[in-house]
Amino acid sequence: MVSKRAADIPPFVVMDVLEKAQEMARRGIHVIHLEVGEPDFDTPTCVNEAAGRALAKGHTHYTHSMGVVELREAICAHYFRTYGVRVDPDQVLVGNGTSPLFFLLLSALLEPGDEVIISDPHYCCYPNFITFLEGIPVTVPVYEEDGFQFRSSAISGRITDRTRAILINSPSNPTGNLLSEARMRAISAFSPHIISDEIYQGLVYEGKAHSILEFTDRAFVLNGFSKLYAMTGWRLGYLIAPREFIRPLQKINQNFFISANAVSQMAGIAALKEADEAVRRMLAIYDRRRRYMIDRLKKMGFGITVEPTGAFYVFANAKAFSRDSFQLALEILEKAHVGVTPGIAFGANGEGYLRFSYANSIENITEGMDRIEAHLKRR
Ligand SMILES: Cc1ncc(COP(=O)(O)O)c(C=O)c1O
Repeated sequence: MVSKRAADIPPFVVMDVLEKAQEMARRGIHVIHLEVGEPDFDTPTCVNEAAGRALAKGHTHYTHSMGVVELREAICAHYFRTYGVRVDPDQVLVGNGTSPLFFLLLSALLEPGDEVIISDPHYCCYPNFITFLEGIPVTVPVYEEDGFQFRSSAISGRITDRTRAILINSPSNPTGNLLSEARMRAISAFSPHIISDEIYQGLVYEGKAHSILEFTDRAFVLNGFSKLYAMTGWRLGYLIAPREFIRPLQKINQNFFISANAVSQMAGIAALKEADEAVRRMLAIYDRRRRYMIDRLKKMGFGITVEPTGAFYVFANAKAFSRDSFQLALEILEKAHVGVTPGIAFGANGEGYLRFSYANSIENITEGMDRIEAHLKRR
């Protein structure tokens, strides 16, 4: 018998849409993918070359369970350079992507029945991670007019004696918005721990993103190489944690994962030390696509009240076309041959929205926008 925990975990809906689109592609239909949440760019050459050198030098063994020291030092230098915060390499745990580190962190933090506050909409895996570890996700709606930012007044009403953490994500998936400095500061003053998913940090086109560590050292930071450095397949991420959690986290990591992939860690050092120029190039291209996509979507009648300035997503109000985002996404896939992600995948409050990703070439985005526009006109 499959355990209840395994039977009950919901699928990753974005992957379902992607798989349906792939199946259409196998039938010879040309699909434009605006549903994907990963960079279309190849990993920067300097990173690939560093990995080649690491292989040649025999970096093919287990590493220290916390991660290669040079990588942890480079992560600390990165946080100091970017946010002016001091982190000790002993507080950094390197893992195979942020996803398994979420699992580690929540397993070190939650007793059954403990609550974690998350926004609605949110990255679709958050409630699944929490529920899988027998915690309770408590959702706080965030609204389009507010740029989908948490209001601390809405959070304070949901804090109970079971609240273990408040999870924030800036820049955000799915909304592409940043949490303002004032709101981040206000959230950092709450007594539960703050978990800050900073995986889209660096992908910012206007304004300034902040790290939670600028406001409190009681926070957990999750970050990784997948998005900023176009390294999704390398599976490399890290967790910065308060000292009292480090040893328990390390022990769980030793048991379940032993250490992160050695070659990827060596590649990660090069990403942090050598890839600034490549990142700047990608940022300029993303920004051009972002502005183009927002403009086209608005002209078609989608609602974008606060323009997204981070990550590579536009979370557009599609209520003028349908109140059922799953049906609308399917219709756009089947009739216009464009993959988009239904807002309902990100929580009940995401219903009526569609998430468009601009991690695709400007040519494909243009074609995708043309197809959707033509479909909506003849509907
Ligand atoms: C908000 C957010 N956090 C975490 C992840 C997972 O990233 P990783 O590749 O580091 O596991 C994603 C991936 O889409 C994401 O959007």
